Amino acid sequence: MFSTPLCLLTALAALATASPLQRRTGGPAINSPAANSVIMPGQDFDFSYQNMGDYGRSSYNLTVWLFSSELGAFTSGSDTVATGHYFGRFPLKNGAVPTTLTMPDLSVNPGDFGEGQSASNATMYIAVFEEWADWDGSLGEKVAFASTPIIYNGTST
Ligand SMILES: *[C@@H]1O[C@H](CO)[C@@H](O)[C@H](O)[C@H]1NC(C)=O
Ligand SMILES: *[C@@H]1O[C@H](CO)[C@@H](O)[C@H](O)[C@H]1NC(C)=O
Ligand SMILES: *[C@@H]1O[C@H](CO)[C@@H](O)[C@H](O)[C@H]1NC(C)=O
Repeated sequence: MFSTPLCLLTALAALATASPLQRRTGGPAINSPAANSVIMPGQDFDFSYQNMGDYGRSSYNLTVWLFSSELGAFTSGSDTVATGHYFGRFPLKNGAVPTTLTMPDLSVNPGDFGEGQSASNATMYIAVFEEWADWDGSLGEKVAFASTPIIYNGTST
């Protein structure tokens, strides 16, 4: 599922370093949670994402995930590219992006054959894929990506 967006993202990241485009909004960036925030299972935490939307640019939807590792290059057929949790796909229009998210308890069994796992003080990553587009035609929306590390079930705050 990620192989195509990631090729695109690699290309976008290469463009981003050279292009003034990225500097207009400061996005894509995660403002909250702050890097290395301690977030406990079941805890509500502030979520704020700086999107690509601006004059001449439209932001559509965000997809928000929690991953156990930073995303790298994926190979088709990988059975586990990361472990984590899907928070949802949220439209940027009409203030529909939640300002708080709830950290799941990953020790809870997801059902059937699945089994959760306990962890303490684990570095995980809140990751956002943003679908956006501008006057430059694109084959579908452009996909921006940002992620930030957090400490899941930290032992001190
Ligand atoms: C945004 O997401 C909604 C709901 O999933 C979908 O109906 C809509 O087509 C999406 N917008 C774009 C531009 O992809
Ligand atoms: C959180 O960490 C504590 C140890 O600090 C551990 O006992 C507990 O099982 C962990 N909880 C989860 C949900 O992993
Ligand atoms: C939790 O992780 C932080 C950052 O890696 C580390 O400084 C701290 O000592 C760890 N705490 C425990 C109790 O292991």
